[in-house]
Amino acid sequence: MTNIKTKWICQSCGYETAKYIGKCPECSAWASFVEENISSDSSKKITKINDNVPISKISEITFQQTYRMKTGFAEFDRVLGGGAVSGSVILLAGDPGIGKSTLVLQTAQTIASIGKKVLYICAEESANQVKIRAERLNVNSEYIYVYPQTDLENIKEQIKQNSPDFLIIDSIQAIYDNSITSSAGSVSQIRECTNILTDIAKKENITTIIIGHVTKDGNIAGPRVLEHIVDVVLSFEGDKYKTYRILRGIKNRFGSTNEIGIFNMQETGLCEISNPNEIFLSERSGIITPGSTIIMAIEGSRVITAEIQALVGTTAYPAPRRVTNGIDYNRLLQILAVIEKRIGLKFNTSDVYVNITGGIEIDEPAADLGIAMAIITCFQDVCVKSDTIITGEIGLSGEIRKISNIEKRIIEAQKLGFKNIIVPKGNISYKNNFNINIIEVSRITEAITACITKGDKNL
Ligand SMILES: Nc1ncnc2c1ncn2[C@@H]1O[C@H](COP(=O)(O)OP(=O)(O)OP(=O)(O)O)[C@@H](O)[C@H]1O
Ligand SMILES: [Mg+2]
Ligand SMILES: [Zn+2]
Repeated sequence: MTNIKTKWICQSCGYETAKYIGKCPECSAWASFVEENISSDSSKKITKINDNVPISKISEITFQQTYRMKTGFAEFDRVLGGGAVSGSVILLAGDPGIGKSTLVLQTAQTIASIGKKVLYICAEESANQVKIRAERLNVNSEYIYVYPQTDLENIKEQIKQNSPDFLIIDSIQAIYDNSITSSAGSVSQIRECTNILTDIAKKENITTIIIGHVTKDGNIAGPRVLEHIVDVVLSFEGDKYKTYRILRGIKNRFGSTNEIGIFNMQETGLCEISNPNEIFLSERSGIITPGSTIIMAIEGSRVITAEIQALVGTTAYPAPRRVTNGIDYNRLLQILAVIEKRIGLKFNTSDVYVNITGGIEIDEPAADLGIAMAIITCFQDVCVKSDTIITGEIGLSGEIRKISNIEKRIIEAQKLGFKNIIVPKGNISYKNNFNINIIEVSRITEAITACITKGDKNL
């Protein structure tokens, strides 16, 4: 018999307590606890993938090669590790309005075009709304079935009747299981529904994409516990004011999580951007200004080039401001401390703003030297030569440390038409193989001498 009792559950991480508490001991979120009714048999339910399977030696297990469905986007496939593994469950998380439904609908069209059956559960929108989007995206395959439904029982029934190859749940926060009394979107509901859908996906070999909204702090709304249940977690990100969208792997049981996919949101849907560097750099005005540098970062198997902009100005506040956009705040503090100590520039009465243009984020230490040069050039009112790209990590004593994948970065810089590249000393053994001027530096001061110009400045 089902025993109903209530528990307080942290809506951010799924931590459970018997009483209300203000701050979650697990994830430190404030006021995140909500009282939920839980049937005692469901809260601890563990999804069984297969009953009655024998124990076997690993050497004797026969297996089938995994089949990967192509999504129609090379960018999406790469993030998935070469396509969606059949029978896998993919959680696609993202801010409201970022383009999650668009991405899955366009993917559905590709999958349906090879005769696979797609069942699209639109729990948030009417069939009419989905049709309007589909018209705009030119999605019209007869193998795509749309089912506006929020009740898990009905969804299970339709899955049974239609046996789709590909299932889309848009979104998990809107689906509810009748046997749980708490409201849709609560931790218990999300966890239970995801468990059941994952179970079906594994048993029936249905590739499933589950869409999830994220909270304002960037967590998947509801619980982190979802991340453990599913095979792949992807985050769809972007700048609200830009048309770029970045698809990032957070967890992947079938591939690397370092990959990113870059898209452009247009009226006719998402288009992939296979050569993002040209686009990120094309936004430059062509005129060099103090405080602007070009850096390179590795994201997965790809080199991303970006422009760093720094603004250093006299502060009007008692405590000077440090503002970052696209780089880690603490990284900026560390770089500023090194510049102050090793070069002698003082920022104690200056506000410092650092931006990466194009709405991308870079957390690689190889961007350090580029950030430092942007700050120094702005402070001293000079420029980095326009055809120079900067790589290198900065150590606390002001030394430039070696970075990974240096050859790859040099080749990309060469391809983009840069004439000079600043690299850490000793990082590369054979300079002559390249058609670009490679400048090796071992300290920040050497980088300043190598790439700063006072000429052709435009303010
Ligand atoms: N006519 C249009 N032309 C260009 N872009 C559009 C148009 N209509 C919608 N978009 C883009 O599509 C985005 C919404 O896409 P979509 O509905 O797929 O997002 P979502 O992540 O599923 O949103 P939600 O969280 O509401 O479900 C809009 O923010 C906008 O960028
Ligand atoms: Mg949507
Ligand atoms: Zn918590």
